[in-house]
Amino acid sequence: MVSSSSSGSAYNLVFCLLLLLLIPFPSHSSDPDPLQDFCVADLTATPSTNGFPCKPVSAVTSEDFFFDGLSKQGNTKNAFGSSLTPGNVLAFPGLNTQGISMNRVDFAPGGLNPPHSHPRASETGVVITGKLLVGFVTTNNVFYSKVLTAGQMFVVPRGLVHFQQNVGEGNALAFTAFNSHLPGAALAATTLFASKPQVPNQVLTKAFQVEDDIVNTIKSKFGA
Ligand code: GLV
Ligand code: MN
Repeated sequence: MVSSSSSGSAYNLVFCLLLLLLIPFPSHSSDPDPLQDFCVADLTATPSTNGFPCKPVSAVTSEDFFFDGLSKQGNTKNAFGSSLTPGNVLAFPGLNTQGISMNRVDFAPGGLNPPHSHPRASETGVVITGKLLVGFVTTNNVFYSKVLTAGQMFVVPRGLVHFQQNVGEGNALAFTAFNSHLPGAALAATTLFASKPQVPNQVLTKAFQVEDDIVNTIKSKFGA
């Protein structure tokens, strides 16, 4: 015979197990592992959830695995004084499904790679020439930063807002790398002040606790 106290504890156990099943497991998903040696992207095809479909192997050549797009200095004559040259799957289709990519970032003196985040990747980088202030802000609003010189590396945890600024006398150059073939980049300023259609002023004035004219001025700087 089952006592009412033992059936009660069995019920509690089942209840706890059900509760555990409802708690979502932490997700650590990143770009999927490749299922074959390579899958050079067919950029003319529609991307699927895991990237681009593969080019037919018969059409793949050595050229698909080499990319010289990061060899040229970017044009830093713009409002930010910086230039980012992407080496992601869209520029270098051989990266498709490999879960990696790189950028080249050039800086004029004082130049800024403006605050942005990568929704799909952590970032690491190395300074090649010059002196860069590198910083990011955590979800607890803690700002971590350091001035780096040639050969020094940094890491920006996935999804956090970060920037680099040239604080040296001359030009600066850095290469950055990502654990995604297409990390994506959400620029803080343009995301909010230059979207199409525009984020309404009533949202931005309240969010930033400023008047309409300030929001309009910032929007005008980004061509909105
Ligand atoms: C630098 O932050 C980059 O995204 O390349
Ligand atoms: Mn970045």
